[in-house]
Amino acid sequence: MQTKVLMVCLGNICRSPLAEGILKAKTDSQVVFVDSAGTAGYHIGNNPDMRSVAVAKKYGIDISGQRCRKFSTIDFAQFDVIYAMDLSNYHDIIALTDDKNEIEKVKLLLEEGNASVSEVPDPYYGGADGFEEVYKLINQACNMIAKKLNSKRSL
Ligand code: 4NP
Repeated sequence: MQTKVLMVCLGNICRSPLAEGILKAKTDSQVVFVDSAGTAGYHIGNNPDMRSVAVAKKYGIDISGQRCRKFSTIDFAQFDVIYAMDLSNYHDIIALTDDKNEIEKVKLLLEEGNASVSEVPDPYYGGADGFEEVYKLINQACNMIAKKLNSKRSL
């Protein structure tokens, strides 16, 4: 059965579009469905931030066609796992949960992998360096997620 993974940040224009693109690139779309959303609705309908598009392109991933959407409580039913980029996103999502089953679906992305930090920092107000760092953190976590999900296929 297909595993459905939702990547969530605040604006859905910097971090979670990268997480969506990176995990898609590492997994078979027949096996894993990946989407992303933001807890805030500032940028609904917009394409990802050009700095995220640029860093993804540098590593061979095209995220330019993605469109921003806001996280919705419907997502608790639609997705198996919801990865928050930082603790603020995590708490905003948890505040919308109704039951234990929904709470258990929500994780911090960097719980996966062995990064020395627990949150993917918000790069929006910084420079290109921040986007490179964000890419590396997300990429490391997605390697771990992809390894787990791809091996499920053989179960
Ligand atoms: P993201 O970054 O949560 O990684 O998409 C942000 C994008 C936009 C804003 C903040 C963070 N904003 O305030 O508009």
